[in-house]
Order: sequence, then structure tokens, then C-alpha cells
Amino acid sequence: MDNELNWSNLSFGYIPTDYNVRCRYANGKWGEIEVSSSDIINMHIAATSLHYGQEIFEGMKAFRGADGKVRIFRLEENAKRIISSARGIVMEPVPEELFRKMVIEAVRLNARFIPPYGSGASLYIRPIELGMSAQIGVHPSSEYLFMVMVTPVGPYFKEGFKPTNICIMREFDRVAPKGTGRWKVGGNYAASMEAGERAHSLGYSAVLYLDPKEKKYIDECGPANFFAVKGGKYITPASESILPSVTNKSLMTLARDMGIEVEERHIPVEELAEIDEAGACGTAAVASPVAEIDDLDTGKKYVVSRNGEAGPITTALYNKLRAVQLGEEPDVHGWNTIVEGI
Ligand code: PLP
Ligand code: COI
Repeated sequence: MDNELNWSNLSFGYIPTDYNVRCRYANGKWGEIEVSSSDIINMHIAATSLHYGQEIFEGMKAFRGADGKVRIFRLEENAKRIISSARGIVMEPVPEELFRKMVIEAVRLNARFIPPYGSGASLYIRPIELGMSAQIGVHPSSEYLFMVMVTPVGPYFKEGFKPTNICIMREFDRVAPKGTGRWKVGGNYAASMEAGERAHSLGYSAVLYLDPKEKKYIDECGPANFFAVKGGKYITPASESILPSVTNKSLMTLARDMGIEVEERHIPVEELAEIDEAGACGTAAVASPVAEIDDLDTGKKYVVSRNGEAGPITTALYNKLRAVQLGEEPDVHGWNTIVEGI
């Protein structure tokens, strides 16, 4: 069945795979890991995840490398972040070792869905945790379900590594100044949908959000962090209302390795007039170059790529990241978990 998949033409969509892996928390402890071949769950109609948004998730990728080995990128960082998200909205944190075991098991069980080396595609890993017990008052659940599902994916933006246009829109914030933006909470994405759909209908690939307090500084770019290159430096927003992106951290490390200076700081909107390159970075987005940033409220257009191509530093960072993920270059920082025997 999977042999019919056209690996090089996959989009970022859901393709059913063979198994998902589940574990329940009840009576103060995590139970046994269960393997399921169903993509349906059974839940209480008053579950806190359904009514009050007690839901968090993660996103990671596994790659078939040049040497045939399967590598999961930065598993430990995602394990830590889901714990931080759980604490953020008072859910039961998934122990790091349980997270690790379940992610590896989900990849192993669905090995036939890992796209081949050279296809440009990868196996997207989506861990998700839900509050399961019935509450009508606003209180945290006492029972949780943690699951890991996987699906093979291609590029998040259909243009792939071709620069796209993004827009600034002040009518919507996806998160509050001291709200849930620093955690990977489903509700953040619900809050971004109206703005996202408007942006798409106007031909933009994503919304570039400003800080929700003053609307002076760049925050992040739809489902990804934002970075720019200015005078040879990699600059990226420091903000308490954005998700700490594992990809962004990795790009910052790779940039420093390449001798590129990195600045994590507030980036005022007007500074967009002075940047040489820009990109959206994330597990799904990788490092997607930006061509132009249009401010829909002021009418100002910041043209970043004049020739419609990605800039040299964005391209070099993208290539380096991919090379590490695919085992084409040594994993000097120990970012990959190799899944043996598949
Ligand atoms: N910001 C948001 C809002 C995201 O949804 C994501 C995707 O996970 C990112 C940033 C990038 O994070 P990461 O690089 O860890 O995937
Ligand atoms: C990711 O990059 O893993 C994300 O979660 C982004 C998105 C598809 C919600």
C-alpha cells in the first residue's frame, strides 16, 4: 500500500499509518504502553480537553539517512518541551523516558512509512496529550491520555524552499503577553486560524505576528519562529510570547559553528526595512525563506528577496541542518537518536 505513495510529492497532510502508541495516566500513575491499529479514540463527553482546552502536543521528524539508518531529530528537546507545556496548563507531565520509548516505538512500528533517502520527505511524529476526565467546573483533569502518531510528510509550505510572502495583521493576536504562547497548546492554534485563513486567502503563506502587548516587535511567523539575516548576523526575536523553537535553537548553533554572529533580541517592525534575508523556521517549516513582508495595516512592503531566491545564509543553514538530519554530515552536537534495526 505504501509502495503506492509518491514520496517526492507528499504534502504536509495526514496519511494513515499502521499503528499509534498510547499510555493513560489514572489513579496517580502512568499505565502500560498500548499499541493501537485504530486511529480513533473513545472519550468522555465532559473531558477537560474537549471543554477547556487541556491539550498539548509536539512535532518532530524522523529521516532515513544516506547510510540507510533512521534518525529522530532532537527527541530530548521535545520531551522537555512537552513537560514545560504540561506544567503551563496544569496537566500531568509525561516522564522523559516514557516519551522517548513511545516515540521510538511509534517510528519502529511504522517503519514502512519512513520516506526513502533522497525523496525530500520525512516521517512527522506528533505526540499529543489530552485531559480525559469529566469536569464541568474549570479544573484540571485527574486522568490523561498520551499518544504518539506518525505520518509521512513533504514540505509545510507547498512552495518548498522557494521564498513566499508573509503579512503583518494587527487585528488578531494568537496569544496574550504572559499567556500560553511559550507552550505548545492547541488553543494557540485555534486563536490563529481566522488570521491564518485571511492571510491565505490574500495569497500569503503565513501571518507574521507582532508582540501582543505593544505591537512594536516581531514575535513569530504562524506555526514557526522568525529569523532574519542583517549585515551577516542571524537575528531572531527574544519574546516571552513565542514558542521556544527547537529548529531555531539548532539553526543558531549551526550559525555560530559557521562563524555567523547570532543575536536573540527584540526586533522592531521598522527594522524589517534593513534586513537582507528572512525565514520561518520550525519542524514543519524547516527554514522556509521569505520573499516579502507586507504590513496590511500601514501598506508598507518590506521586500527581502529581490530575485525571488533564498539568500546565501538561509540556504547554507538549511543545507547544513538537512545534512545533519540525513546523516550526510557528522552529528557533532549529538542531536540525532538512531533507531536501530529498521
Ligand atoms: N512556533 C510555533 C507557533 C510552532 O507551532 C512551531 C512548531 O512546532 C514552532 C514555532 C517551531 O518549533 P520547532 O522548531 O520546535 O518545531
Ligand atoms: C511543527 O512544526 O511541528 C508544528 O507543530 C507546526 C504546525 C504544523 C502546527
